[in-house]
Amino acid sequence: MSTPDATEHQALVRAAQSALAASPARTLEFAHGGERYVAKREAQATRGVLSALLARWLARRVTGASLPMGALKLSAAASGVGFEARRLQALAAAGVRVPRLVHHGDGFLLMAHCGATVASLLAGWDRDTWRRELAALAAELGAFHRAGQWHGGAQIKNLTRMNGQTWRIDFEETFGELVPLAAAQAFDVVLFVNSISLRGPIDEDEARTLLPALLRAYFAANPDPQVRAVFARALRWAKVAAALSAPFRRLNFGGRQRNGAARLKLLADAIGGQLAPRGVQDVP
Ligand SMILES: Nc1ncnc2c1ncn2[C@@H]1O[C@H](COP(=O)(O)OP(=O)(O)O)[C@@H](O)[C@H]1O
Ligand SMILES: [Mg+2]
Repeated sequence: MSTPDATEHQALVRAAQSALAASPARTLEFAHGGERYVAKREAQATRGVLSALLARWLARRVTGASLPMGALKLSAAASGVGFEARRLQALAAAGVRVPRLVHHGDGFLLMAHCGATVASLLAGWDRDTWRRELAALAAELGAFHRAGQWHGGAQIKNLTRMNGQTWRIDFEETFGELVPLAAAQAFDVVLFVNSISLRGPIDEDEARTLLPALLRAYFAANPDPQVRAVFARALRWAKVAAALSAPFRRLNFGGRQRNGAARLKLLADAIGGQLAPRGVQDVP
């Protein structure tokens, strides 16, 4: 006979299954027993050899280290079913605030809802609030890295706020299993900063002030010279890419502004400023 807890758990899993059956969405929110949950279908496509080779190439360029071929095999294993569930469990065990995993299997993950995303909150913040909140998030990313962790999807759409605390979500990225830790962490910083630059209320003028402040907050919390070294190597490539993409910076495609090239320039400038010897970086 099932215990009341097991019966309740089964009812919750069934509620998730019917919510998923009723919607084509990959990730959806639903309420059950007065609590909010999120059900997420597992990704169909596993990342193949191509992305593993790309990661290998990037890692060599940016870290100088050659990845062992075994890392490619690891990638295949990592992108299999259950990767995100294992990451959620490992991070929770390490004391990182991630959604409580309720169930995993049958092609989906079921987890506790952890509040609104920072990306959605940003639209409603005034300048003082976003400067304060985003700098605090940059420092949190630094502390998370200092504890030896990497996110893989550190964009503000993958950070939520609940009860005055930040939660990290979305752990499908396997990139960090393929490259040295410092490279995965540097990539987190790039994703985080780029997810803020020229988004919502953060226009170009604001980005020129905000991005360096975010990087300062990050490096104050994680002064790891290895992460700096990755940025120093990557900066050369970023400068070349920014120069090549300069003509596309203000182009409009189909009425929609594409900001990728402008973001790259803002990011390269902000990182360059942080890597410059002290005393030089503050000169306009
Ligand atoms: N545990 C959660 N709590 C609150 N919102 C969530 C949670 N998990 C996912 N979401 C919402 O669903 C969106 C997509 O989920 P995510 O895990 O990031 O999948 P994807 O791989 O599609 O980006 C998130 O950006 C967020 O808005
Ligand atoms: Mg996501």
